[in-house]
Amino acid sequence: MTAAQIVGEKTLEKLTFVITAGPTREYIDPVRFISNPSSGKTGFEIARAAARRGHRAIVVAGPVSLATPRGTERLDAVSARDMMRETRKALASAASPEKTVFIATAAVADWRPAKKAAKKIKKAAFDGVLRLVRNPDILKSVRGVVKIGFAAETGDAVKQAAAKCKAKDLEFVVANDVTVPGAGFGCDTNIVAFVRRDGSVERKPKMSKRALAAEIVKSAEDAVRARLKKISRYAIIPQNKEDER
Ligand code: PMT
Repeated sequence: MTAAQIVGEKTLEKLTFVITAGPTREYIDPVRFISNPSSGKTGFEIARAAARRGHRAIVVAGPVSLATPRGTERLDAVSARDMMRETRKALASAASPEKTVFIATAAVADWRPAKKAAKKIKKAAFDGVLRLVRNPDILKSVRGVVKIGFAAETGDAVKQAAAKCKAKDLEFVVANDVTVPGAGFGCDTNIVAFVRRDGSVERKPKMSKRALAAEIVKSAEDAVRARLKKISRYAIIPQNKEDER
């Protein structure tokens, strides 16, 4: 497939997709960490789908055991702060913000230990109290590009997602209830709803993460196309006759 391709009825140039994937690890000492069961499958499938449609795809991966999809680039991270740094690097390498999409699928740890012990903490020396501090919010910190987020919830995923869409200034949120069998962490399928910033909700049937990835990439292309159209509309506003005098 060529760089510029026909997408829908209009030609859309090659975009850059930056995708976070997998968990982060927040080390307590050299042998123990806080993390979660994210496998990275969702993010890797999105990177694969974007590359297959002729885009540049950079996956910023937490510690996962997946092969890098063909035609994609990969930056590795361990902690949330690593992931933030690598994401910034990836975004800085993109040609232009208006043709860049950031998709945050990673399950980033919200908290990390205030201090990482240099040596393995001995059981007898530990009082059972672990002080945590907040990690930076990667998705919220990114600006100027089309942003798509995920919301992993254990209950009313759609309601929570709508709030996240506004708080993080997203195009839409892919909401999933990770307590439902066949959805969420680790499996090859997911059951999601796209929750848009205008409040509309599009519920999807259970589908493979590969099929879902293709839908997300197409929706991202639509969002970029709409944004470019808006920009070009501003660019061709006729001058006011008064201004010409
Ligand atoms: O990797 P898989 O095994 O395929 O599993 C997929 C998944 C369950 C991880 C995925 O479907 C999913 O729901 N990912 C988001 C998990 C999550 O951390 O959700 P959240 O509601 O805590 O965060 C909201 C959004 O902010 C997410 O897009 C997240 O990537 C982003 N975030 C959160 C915290 C933080 N410090 N930085 C962020 O960028």
